[in-house]
Amino acid sequence: MESPKSQNITWHHPIITREDRERLLGQRGFTLWFTGLSRSGKSTLAAEVEKRLYERGYITYILDGDNIRHGLNKNLGFSPEDREENIRRIGEVAHLFRQAGIINMTAFISPYRADRRKARDLAKQGEFIEIFCRCSVEACEKRDQKGLYKKAKAGEIPEFTGISAPYEEPENPEIIIETDKETIEEGVRKIIFYLEKNGYIKTRQGLSSSPDIKNT
Ligand code: ADX
Repeated sequence: MESPKSQNITWHHPIITREDRERLLGQRGFTLWFTGLSRSGKSTLAAEVEKRLYERGYITYILDGDNIRHGLNKNLGFSPEDREENIRRIGEVAHLFRQAGIINMTAFISPYRADRRKARDLAKQGEFIEIFCRCSVEACEKRDQKGLYKKAKAGEIPEFTGISAPYEEPENPEIIIETDKETIEEGVRKIIFYLEKNGYIKTRQGLSSSPDIKNT
């Protein structure tokens, strides 16, 4: 890991630990890292998953690309260097949320494998769940009311992911949602089922969340 630019800084160990906070909250802090093209459904899925977790009494927070670029990352654009810095900061913020015991979801294109890897490396084993929202450029374009794909194709938006900038697909994501084939509900069920099956959240007694069961 790169060492900090500043010198004469000392790490302070907290009195209240992560474990203390997790015990108080009755949950574990972990990250659901959504990745995929613009309009691939990252934010929509994150919002729906958050709703389900909230209803079950879990404390969550969503970090969303478009929103974060209005604040924390308002000084960043879409060059490869700026995207790297965007994801580096989000990886660190997600880490802070984990330390706070909060379930956090990130919805950023995060197009580069190396950058996603660095974000993952900050997490302990099992605390970083990569969710690939797989969707063809054509399907993303169809959903794009803002017309960004059209503008990108016309050369009006430079370095647009999927058109004039690369997207490196995850090689080993924990979850893949085919958002151009599966409904939002199916995607949400798949994620909730994964979380239950792997003990991240408690199973609802008497209620199955099997992704195969529809409309229950
Ligand atoms: S990332 O590549 O650095 O992870 P991020 O998720 O923060 O991107 O922002 C993507 C959002 O910014 C898109 O959903 C879209 O609304 C908008 N956007 C504007 N310009 C671009 C561009 N050149 N490439 C991709 N998305 C863009």
